[in-house]
Amino acid sequence: MSETGAGSATGAGTGPARALRVLVLNGPNLDLLGTREPTIYGRETLDEINAGIAARAVELGVAVAFFQSNHEGALIDRLHRRDFDAAIVNAAGLTHTSVSLRDALLAVERPFVEVHLSDPATREPFRRINFLEDVAVARFVGLHARGYTLALEELARRWAAGLILARAGDVEAPHG
Ligand code: DQA
Repeated sequence: MSETGAGSATGAGTGPARALRVLVLNGPNLDLLGTREPTIYGRETLDEINAGIAARAVELGVAVAFFQSNHEGALIDRLHRRDFDAAIVNAAGLTHTSVSLRDALLAVERPFVEVHLSDPATREPFRRINFLEDVAVARFVGLHARGYTLALEELARRWAAGLILARAGDVEAPHG
């Protein structure tokens, strides 16, 4: 798993006084982007995608934190920290299997945008099962890295319109 942060500490004017805090959560095998099935997922690495998100975040005045893990429980534990106002989630294969990740996203009560590099609905039938789509506030699929920046722009728009609650700071999960 990996965790990094980037972005701005200043607000953009019309929204709340402080910057929107967005968690970008990426699930299993997305650490292999760049070499993983490039005809489906493209040739950009996750670091390159995150650098693009971070650059757009600075322009938008949004604070972003990045987290990727190949482990369902680690992703859930990261959500439980609740140190963000909204999230961008590419749950990868867990999209199609994980009731627990869905439950965690609902439990922490933060709006999230679902992103996929490919469009799972046009691929194998098992990818049409999706445990997240009906609880996401928006979705960007099949747009490769552009989906993440569109998701960030959507959250910034919602924040400026007062549609996202400014949440209190870190809430520690009981299990550290
Ligand atoms: C994915 C699509 C999923 O079906 C797949 O399991 C992934 C990546 C995407 O970004 O296109 O790992 O989430």
